Amino acid sequence: MARDQIPGYRYGDPALPRAPYSVQDLELLKQALLFSEEDAQALRRAGQILEPYVEEILDVWYGFVGSHPFLLRYFANEQGPVPAYLERVRKRFGQWILDTCRAEYDQAWLDYQYEIARRHFDRKNQTDEVSGAPPIVHFRYVNALVYPIYATIRPFLERGESEPRKVDAMHQAWLKAVLLQSTLWSYPYLKESAF
Ligand code: HEM
Repeated sequence: MARDQIPGYRYGDPALPRAPYSVQDLELLKQALLFSEEDAQALRRAGQILEPYVEEILDVWYGFVGSHPFLLRYFANEQGPVPAYLERVRKRFGQWILDTCRAEYDQAWLDYQYEIARRHFDRKNQTDEVSGAPPIVHFRYVNALVYPIYATIRPFLERGESEPRKVDAMHQAWLKAVLLQSTLWSYPYLKESAF
């Protein structure tokens, strides 16, 4: 699906609020994560490999969330899981896989990171106009989900690369990229000036 046809997707929208972190802050965070230019290149390659499998990857991740009621409840109201909510987020999640591999790490990218952060916290439910679902995703689960999102991507990388060393390079770059984002998403959850 073309990016501009994904409901609620706003990466690159100049009307988004500006992120409270700068490109310089990001540079230091990348250094702290040992994120190098080689990682950026490995991610680009990963993006090419993963693109045809996005729906299958989403099936795995939605299967994981769907089989854990304490996670599925974030997509549910009093009547149970809200299919339209799950479906709309799924489309943006699929685009996020590709965006993660192709990130430019500029201010527009940071601004969308901040928007995604707020969509897990104080702006949850607004984009898709959902009523009755929990008002926030608790941060402990955002942090914990880094691991399954990292671990489950490997078999898909292996479909496009047979050399274990090259799979490792893409897999480690993916982990750093997800950790980088989950760290940026912690901002609204933390006490003022604690980030
Ligand atoms: C939204 C990724 C953790 C529930 C999203 C989106 C992405 C994403 C890409 C769509 C952003 C957009 O609107 O463009 C991730 C990643 C996580 C994570 C990478 C962990 C590393 C969690 C957890 C839950 C969760 C633990 C709880 C089940 C949601 C919900 C939305 C959402 C409910 C929709 C929020 C809204 O109402 O706008 N997530 N997520 N996420 N995620 Fe997560």
